[in-house]
Amino acid sequence: SGQSLWGGRFSAKPADIMQAINVSIGVDKRLWAQDLAGSRAHCRMLIAQGIITAEDGTAILEGLDTIEGEITSGSFPFRDQYEDIHMNVEARLAELIGEPSGRLHTARSRNDQVATDFRLWVRDACDRTIHQLQALQRALLARAEQHAGDLMPGFTHLQTAQPVTFGHHLMAYVEMAGRDASRFADARARMNENPLGSAALAGSPFPIDRHATAAELGFDRPMANSLDAVSDRDFALETLAAASICAGHLSRLAEEIVVWMTPMFGFVTLPDDLTTGSSIMPQKRNPDAAELVRAKTGRVLGAFVALSTVMKGLPLAYSKDMQEDKPPVFEAMDALDLALTAMTAMVGALRPNIDRMRAAAGTGYSTATDLADWLVRELNLPFRRAHHVTGAAVKRAEALGVDLAQLPIQELQSLEPGVTEAVYKVLTPEASCASRQSFGGTAPEQVRMRIAEWKLRLG
Ligand code: ARG
Repeated sequence: SGQSLWGGRFSAKPADIMQAINVSIGVDKRLWAQDLAGSRAHCRMLIAQGIITAEDGTAILEGLDTIEGEITSGSFPFRDQYEDIHMNVEARLAELIGEPSGRLHTARSRNDQVATDFRLWVRDACDRTIHQLQALQRALLARAEQHAGDLMPGFTHLQTAQPVTFGHHLMAYVEMAGRDASRFADARARMNENPLGSAALAGSPFPIDRHATAAELGFDRPMANSLDAVSDRDFALETLAAASICAGHLSRLAEEIVVWMTPMFGFVTLPDDLTTGSSIMPQKRNPDAAELVRAKTGRVLGAFVALSTVMKGLPLAYSKDMQEDKPPVFEAMDALDLALTAMTAMVGALRPNIDRMRAAAGTGYSTATDLADWLVRELNLPFRRAHHVTGAAVKRAEALGVDLAQLPIQELQSLEPGVTEAVYKVLTPEASCASRQSFGGTAPEQVRMRIAEWKLRLG
């Protein structure tokens, strides 16, 4: 009674454990729209090529429309007994239209069907992610523009290094997000070839038109090798690799938000609606969203490792191992989707404490490099000598408990007789930032130029 669509040569039903380990409908029902699109394209091609009659083809197409209605309205019976989305749709089609339904699978296998469905899904996910990255970039750009001239300490080793602007710091993430988007675009371009028509593994003896189905499904061309088409998942791996790198970038910004929000830094706060409280400590305001963005990296990279481990060593062509391709991809792309959306919200809502950041930018001898550079420029000292003199000046300032800018001129002159009062002009964080006019540097003009370029690029 239609127990399975492949039961002809079998005399026993699958054992419960066979069904339990084999069933994938709970996961791959997410491919329903792609599965219907692939079936429609295949059916229209079969009609056009005279492989099935227009009458049967029309019945199939109408049945697929009915199924789409059932799925969108929630009445479609997803049944474990039919294993996966492909056989659930086909079994339902048989119930709806009877005999012609059996002609849809002519010149097709679930192997090329699932490869096609999954490619279409991953392609959409790449497009969605690129959009989300652009939204994040726009949020970062808006904040960078507000703070193109506002100072903060720049760090190396998380130790005060040199003053930068908050705008420059945010723009660093615009660049990262731009490369992330271009990685998804590259992956999309490479994956955009049609597996459909490769059938089980060797191609089809029917006069199919793979170019027609490729065009209908928005693929650039058919995949050139039927074995490769049904057995490779590098498009998914490449997407997960791009996702892992992207998640890594998000986790760095998330970590910075966590650090900036500690009262000891006090650089930024997040509004109530993007933080949470503690059930015991009444004073707490916790950056949970940032922490969770930071943590999602584990799932995303884990998905890449999971799928590469599934794929390695599989002989050509299809093996059922490959059914395990979908959970990691769905999980990773869901996690990245949440992380990108949450990060965009946080970037938009961050409230920087400009005064605190400016004050911090002036501590930690952040302009020591400017002093050394001045000694090189004005007194023609070799940089190594200037470095040494400046180090001694920092040591002296530390002993006196003052900043470099407050170190008396006599102190500086005792270390290097040629030093004049003019040196103090380069020792403020403002002067330090303003002087870094090299292309890509932190000078506000440079930052504003990069912002203008990105605004143009993003349209
Ligand atoms: N559910 C299967 C998957 O996701 C579809 C392909 C099954 N093909 C087969 N020959 N058993 O991989």
